[in-house]
Amino acid sequence: MEQYFIRGGKPLRGVVDICGAKNAALALIPAAILTDEPVIISNLPDVSDINLLLDAIAQIGATVERIDRHTARIIGATVNSYSLNYEYISKIRASYYLLGALLGRFHKAEVAMPGGCVIGARPIDQHIKGFEALGASIDLEDGQIKAQADELKGTHIYFDVVSVGATINVLLAAAMADGITIIENPAKEPHVVDLANMLNSMGARIRGAGTDVIRISGVQKLHSTEYTVIPDQIEAGTFLMAGAATRGDVTVNNVIPKHLESITAKLEDIGCEIVEYDEAVRVIADGCILKNTHVKTLPYPGFPTDMQPQMAVVLTLAEGMSTVKESIFENRFKYAGELARMGAKIKIESNTAMITGVRKLKGAQVESPDLRAGAALTIAGLAAEGCTQVSGIQFIQRGYENFEDKLRRIGADICKIDTDDEAAMDDYRQRCS
Ligand code: EPZ
Repeated sequence: MEQYFIRGGKPLRGVVDICGAKNAALALIPAAILTDEPVIISNLPDVSDINLLLDAIAQIGATVERIDRHTARIIGATVNSYSLNYEYISKIRASYYLLGALLGRFHKAEVAMPGGCVIGARPIDQHIKGFEALGASIDLEDGQIKAQADELKGTHIYFDVVSVGATINVLLAAAMADGITIIENPAKEPHVVDLANMLNSMGARIRGAGTDVIRISGVQKLHSTEYTVIPDQIEAGTFLMAGAATRGDVTVNNVIPKHLESITAKLEDIGCEIVEYDEAVRVIADGCILKNTHVKTLPYPGFPTDMQPQMAVVLTLAEGMSTVKESIFENRFKYAGELARMGAKIKIESNTAMITGVRKLKGAQVESPDLRAGAALTIAGLAAEGCTQVSGIQFIQRGYENFEDKLRRIGADICKIDTDDEAAMDDYRQRCS
């Protein structure tokens, strides 16, 4: 089994090129089958979630051509099934966006019920509320979600909960509905706006994405487009946090600084210097004494829940008492025990991490419980004294392209070793003894 092996304590210094946003790409790929014409999507991150979703749309018959590792050409004309089999939803939750896309295009869809995951129950009642408001009938039987509609009619939807997934699924279903759909209390994440922009480039008429009210005027048909995925705000934020935790100097390139504002504001709060360029952001933390702060995760433009573990790791090294309140998911602190084994002083009380800063973390063997916590534990290993072994890195590879290579290029002593490779393991043990 492959694991990360890290010798910590080295400040990270340099420039990291940021990939396309995983959570935007996961919405754009299903949108491509809303038309019969070819759709080219570029700047796709080469990560397992994206590759799995491309396999999923190929499984229902779409023609998928990988022009290169970051570009795909998709033709929805050959879609020949409205039912996605279980293996995909069990591996990639976001394949439930095919519900909205197949419903929007063919007025029928069948996708396996997505289960919960380590960070929470992840219900989809708001998705179903949106589909039913558009006129679809939804049957939940045998672990399947079966949706069908004689026609989809524009409607007025008020989401009870701000939901990225539900907003995206309704945008996909409503783009070609008959009439006007108003969505109130939508998610405003950059990846929601990216989907609206791509659909508009295909001939849709969507206004207000990124605001409190989205207005969709249904159109008869959508056409081909060539579209570039926005930069990944979470990948960028993760590398900025790595720069802060290691007291280094890291610049993330190919980003939209505005998307990072809640993250850079917190880094300035704790004493880091932030420099913004047109398409890059730099964190300077050389010799910085990190100060405590208080964070609450919120829907965009608030502090992203996908940055919560990474922020918590930095705060374990900040002077004084910090708090991190997780207001989006009910169980997103599974990494806290692993951090405590590295010497962090962290306690969880009613979905809030109470953190007392320590001078140094100590290297340890740790297990990634999920994607973002895995990235956070890797940052902890980079900042810690001594050696850290991170297992469960398959979670990290779901959302970070060449994570360890990018870290190595800015000075990290990190490598990916298969634990069956005795020679490599011996070499690592010697370097760590
Ligand atoms: C998306 O998940 C992201 N995934 C998550 O990123 C991210 O953490 C989350 O949005 C919040 O920003 C993708 O984009 C593929 P939600 P999603 O619907 O859409 C509740 C990562 O690490 N809710 O916005 O599933 C839900 O329980 C992943 O990249 C309902 O109650 O999140 C949660 O408490 C992890 N009913 C809150 O809303 C619903 O019908 C926000 O969930 C839907 C959601």
